[in-house]
Amino acid sequence: MEMHKVIQHVETLRWCGGPDGYLELVDQTLLPTEFRYLTCRDLETLCEAIRQLRVRGAPAIGIAAAYGVVLGLQQATGPLHPPLVSQKNSVEKSVQPAKAAFGPRLEEVIGALASTRPTAVNLFWALERMRRRALALQDQPIPVILESLLQEAKAIHEEDRQMCRAIGRHGQELLSDGQSVLTHCNAGGLATADYGTALAVIYAAVEAGKRIHVYVDETRPLWQGARLTAWELQQRSIPATVLCDNAAASLLQQGRVQAVITGADRIAANGDVANKIGTYGLAVLAAAHNIPFYVAAPSSTFDLAIADGSQIPIEHRPGREVTHPLGRPIAPEGVEVYNPAFDVTTARLVTAIICERGVIRPVCRAEIAACLGES
Ligand code: MRU
Repeated sequence: MEMHKVIQHVETLRWCGGPDGYLELVDQTLLPTEFRYLTCRDLETLCEAIRQLRVRGAPAIGIAAAYGVVLGLQQATGPLHPPLVSQKNSVEKSVQPAKAAFGPRLEEVIGALASTRPTAVNLFWALERMRRRALALQDQPIPVILESLLQEAKAIHEEDRQMCRAIGRHGQELLSDGQSVLTHCNAGGLATADYGTALAVIYAAVEAGKRIHVYVDETRPLWQGARLTAWELQQRSIPATVLCDNAAASLLQQGRVQAVITGADRIAANGDVANKIGTYGLAVLAAAHNIPFYVAAPSSTFDLAIADGSQIPIEHRPGREVTHPLGRPIAPEGVEVYNPAFDVTTARLVTAIICERGVIRPVCRAEIAACLGES
């Protein structure tokens, strides 16, 4: 697709066909120069796409994994269409072994998807939902189970769409006409079903008639800010300025930003937030300059099973991402590299968490439990 074409509404992922169908996802490694869907017809292609960040962002990874369960089970269970009556005997022979293989294959598929990326809890949340649905139906014929799993994946997808709209509605109240906002990484439509979390707040503010300027951290080493967030904002004609990550401090020092808004990959029960590496630094900067630091995330990003951020597994990625941007070396061969993909921001630095159920403030265990309906 030519790049001058404006694509206001991007469907990050789309399922094509019925239970024997396939998944298409925007290949985010090609943006901003090329907008193209990648077709995933099997589990391996999808797992590779998640690992390589072709699909990325916590909610989008969860949605992709839900559809991935359907893809993975298609492979194990053979043809899905009901066989002809005249072939009844041979059918019973072929369906029974497939049914016996279903349980082990379900765990194998979930295991493969769960091993792609460790930090975003939405992945594990979606897989657990799919497992529960499959186990509740285990006495049913395989085509019935697959149809039902596809409906569950579509429900996860649609719920994310609704949650992002609600995050936008709640969050936009925090912004005023004429303000400038700094964001980090991409927590936009590309990271979710289609509207984003941090960017949803900005989209909803703009839709409410407010003029908002967005400063976009480029987000080293994979440039989700420069490549994806700046692209999304441009598609929607929202004024945006890209800066090197290390320019954020001086921007805040000069008073040019009135709020910092990011997404999240996992939020612990006490409100500690894991998000793209560099987020913690921004939270410290925001506190130093008395600027509100907001996190926008759906309830699927909370992990109430862990007490605090020290228990969040942090993904470390290949050093080559740092030493070879765009495939060209910028550091001496063989140098040691530190490349964590995420960091943890302590709850006391977060002014508020904007969730689909409302704005959580102050950010503490009790307020989170009250908002999410758990005590
Ligand atoms: O490594 P990525 O690109 O998947 O990291 C994405 C982020 O850190 C996002 O801020 C987060 O997932 C929230 S997306 C709504």
